[in-house]
Amino acid sequence: MDAALKIWLLDQVNNCPWPCTLLLFLGALTFARFTFKTLVVFLQTFILPGTSLKKFGAKKGAWAVVTGASDGIGREFAIQLGSSGFNILLVARNSKMLNDVAAEIAAKTKSAVETRIYLIDFAQDDKSKYEGLKVLLQHLDVGVLVNNVGKSHTMPTYFAETEEQENADIVAINVNATIRVTHAVLPGMIQRKRGLILNLGSFAGLVPSPMLATYSGTKAFLATFTSALAEEVRSQGIVVQHLNTYFVVSKMSNIRRTSALVPTPASYVHACLSKIGFSGGAALTGRPGTLTAFWTHAVVDYAMHVIGWKSRFITYTHSLHKDIRKRALRKLEREAKKV
Ligand SMILES: NC(=O)c1ccc[n+]([C@@H]2O[C@H](COP(=O)([O-])OP(=O)(O)OC[C@H]3O[C@@H](n4cnc5c(N)ncnc54)[C@H](OP(=O)(O)O)[C@@H]3O)[C@@H](O)[C@H]2O)c1
Repeated sequence: MDAALKIWLLDQVNNCPWPCTLLLFLGALTFARFTFKTLVVFLQTFILPGTSLKKFGAKKGAWAVVTGASDGIGREFAIQLGSSGFNILLVARNSKMLNDVAAEIAAKTKSAVETRIYLIDFAQDDKSKYEGLKVLLQHLDVGVLVNNVGKSHTMPTYFAETEEQENADIVAINVNATIRVTHAVLPGMIQRKRGLILNLGSFAGLVPSPMLATYSGTKAFLATFTSALAEEVRSQGIVVQHLNTYFVVSKMSNIRRTSALVPTPASYVHACLSKIGFSGGAALTGRPGTLTAFWTHAVVDYAMHVIGWKSRFITYTHSLHKDIRKRALRKLEREAKKV
């Protein structure tokens, strides 16, 4: 530092101790806040175990309800919750795939837990199907609900060009199904004073995703819905969490190979179930109820909030989606030529 500048600065400190003390205090406070947040994210993500599933009725005859249980992340939730000692209600459209999941749970648990299947197409908003599900749920001791079912756009597309039906299906599946199934399950949980509700969210709800606007909006809805509901029922022994998810290998993500950032559904679900009650990478970011559980997703979430600058991430996502759309259209062209 220039000697004259140094003398000037010392002069300022000596002449106005109060403003300088205030600045030093604010600097120390910001540093302490940053250090504390980093420590909490680290401990929750890598060291501390979350709330035990026993608190929600594992091995005590309670049921776990999983929507979208025939494939991907939902299938894994069903299998791992079954292995933890919950009876499982499997909900989706494809009965053969659901029966396969039920058989796998029976094999893994030596038939120690019961499984049931409920077939429903959430895109249909079918009143009688919802009523049937509600009646069934009222007769079960539901300890855990995983609102996993979800639909994204067929490929990144500008909102103006998105089919109306696609938007309607995404809202029906991602928003209406979560609201209605939660509404059917919650009174029983309140009565029993215990329950865990997990809502499958996405980074697309955290960082607005151009060219996946409807999907992105529905996932943002889930984050806010979860925070509000979590606060309503916290004093009644019910935990409601929004699972902030980056990429996971699945049919929906269209990613088949794992990498540090893209776990298998098994690793992803294991991370979520072992961190219940925590926030992981979402700790101290003003998103109560959100859990970013898988370690690399937690690091990305943490980094995004330390760096800030959300608009840069939105611009990056936009150019990424333009590229994905180009490649998807080229693939469709190639396939059309083969026919
Ligand atoms: N994979 C990722 O990278 C990723 C990232 C962020 C968030 N997520 C979220 O994670 C959740 C699960 O995604 P996933 O990747 O595991 O998807 P997936 O492998 O495509 O599985 C989707 C599940 O939902 C069921 N389903 C789809 N449409 C349905 C409908 N209309 N009615 C009833 N069930 C329906 C499917 O079963 P049937 O076909 O038998 O009905 C299947 O069991 C979604 O909410 C998704 O938004 C995933």
